[in-house]
Amino acid sequence: MRGKLVVGNWKMNGNMLQNQQLLDAIVPEIKTLGNMASAVCVPYPYLVMTQKVLQSTKIAWGAQNVSPYDLGAYTGEVAAEMLVDLGCYYVIVGHSERRALFGEDNQTVALKFKKAQSVGLIPILCVGETLAQREVGETERVIAEQLDTVVNLVSIDAFAKAVIAYEPVWAIGTGKTASPDQAQHVHAFIRNRLASHNAELASKIQILYGGSVKSNNAANLFSMPDIDGGLIGGASLIASEFISICKAAQC
Ligand code: PGA
Repeated sequence: MRGKLVVGNWKMNGNMLQNQQLLDAIVPEIKTLGNMASAVCVPYPYLVMTQKVLQSTKIAWGAQNVSPYDLGAYTGEVAAEMLVDLGCYYVIVGHSERRALFGEDNQTVALKFKKAQSVGLIPILCVGETLAQREVGETERVIAEQLDTVVNLVSIDAFAKAVIAYEPVWAIGTGKTASPDQAQHVHAFIRNRLASHNAELASKIQILYGGSVKSNNAANLFSMPDIDGGLIGGASLIASEFISICKAAQC
């Protein structure tokens, strides 16, 4: 049975004081929850403080990006080895903001996925279509290409230690959520595509939904058969929202 997972993606938000307050508020509440797992993916400079606050809790932490390169002369990059050093469990790869704003193509995302796994991190691979792509019926083609590039580089077996996040670009930060049925349709497509390589593995992989998940829509989304939790942006910055979403994930 797949457990539910809720991951906060803080994006480029926060400061020491706000982060401390947010973490202090969520830790005691999440401690009381059963049958679900949670994590926060924070900006690099706050990984140290996050590790300090979360290390004896059941909330995991991770980063939002990683270099595809090994340690060396790559000014401004952050190596996967460094994330391990800071106790990270997860790292987000291929978020649509990185694809759209920082020119990350499918191949770069696949290389980051591979590098993250090579040091034992669990990549959270983001896939999703833009509104224009959805409107011309290209959703499945786009997502298949995003997935297949990674499968071709690392092989299907690598997905045994990965999480996928379906994030329709048109739903991110817009307040427009995919309906549970729309999301379920794409989640089932993703699972079936992986199942065509390895059915057992596909039945076990967690596929999160991301895109304007809030406390008032989380339960409906999480009740769908192929939605195994959420990747939460804006609402993960508000303690009460994040806690409610985690509660909605308890099965
Ligand atoms: P959102 O972001 O919840 O603010 O829409 C989700 C994400 O980008 O991961």
